[in-house]
Amino acid sequence: MARITASVYSSHVPAIGAAIDLGKTSEPYWQPLFAGYEKSRRWMEENRPDVVFLIYNDHASAFSLEIVPTFAIGTAERFPIADEGWGPRPVPEVIGHPELASHIAQSVIQQDFDLTVVNHMAVDHGLTVPLSLLFGQPPAWPVKVIPFAVNVVLYPVPSGRRCFALGQAIRRAIESFDEPLTVQIWGTGGMSHQLQGPRAGLINREWDMQFMDRLIAEPDKLAEVPHIEYVREAGSEGIELVMWLIARGAMSDVAGGPPPRVVHRFYHVPASNTAVGHLILENVQ
Ligand code: DHB
Ligand code: FE
Repeated sequence: MARITASVYSSHVPAIGAAIDLGKTSEPYWQPLFAGYEKSRRWMEENRPDVVFLIYNDHASAFSLEIVPTFAIGTAERFPIADEGWGPRPVPEVIGHPELASHIAQSVIQQDFDLTVVNHMAVDHGLTVPLSLLFGQPPAWPVKVIPFAVNVVLYPVPSGRRCFALGQAIRRAIESFDEPLTVQIWGTGGMSHQLQGPRAGLINREWDMQFMDRLIAEPDKLAEVPHIEYVREAGSEGIELVMWLIARGAMSDVAGGPPPRVVHRFYHVPASNTAVGHLILENVQ
């Protein structure tokens, strides 16, 4: 059977992608941020999974105002890199895992979550920046990726509670796939940031820290935080953090196993207008 080995959490600020693509990672502004991912890249070399189930949000690249799926799973063989206005990022195209993705769609829909099945989709910085942070600049991505897009851009957005329950359904789906694959589940976006309006530039370090503490220790209680608290405390784009609860819900402790091991935890301000958070949790078998 397939098995979830770890969950990885990371912000996805587009300026981080530009810093990598333009060779600026050792400049004084960026160096402390990339230093915070060095341990993660080493860990990834030794703990590379077959497949990454990557939860992210599309930023009006694949979906427009015309169609707003709350939860969308990418079942294609390959996913081209989106052009977000400056041309596509110079990164490899993303190779999917249609068999596992289709199995997850079947299983999760039968567990009463209405997923949108997407057979053709370009992927934007929400997905490619975390890949670059964890894998660097390889000629081809070393893992297969199942993109899972969540609407956190246009209201109404899904609740933390629903995201946490969805993660549990995704774990059951992955663990019932009849091939011995290793799978990591990534939750991306956040942390506190607001990109527009009078509160643009908002950073709430204390709230972010508490979010990470609670994500590790009491995700079921954290899942009860209403969407309005994210927006009030972490800014309008801080709501991206509900996606971390999907990944956390898929960890074994939520289904009665032992608590996960904290491999790495990192927090840094600023990256563009954003606080950057990063966490790796390993399932203890
Ligand atoms: C920016 C965009 C994002 O999607 C995000 O999550 C953080 C920052 C930006 O445009 O700076
Ligand atoms: Fe974003």
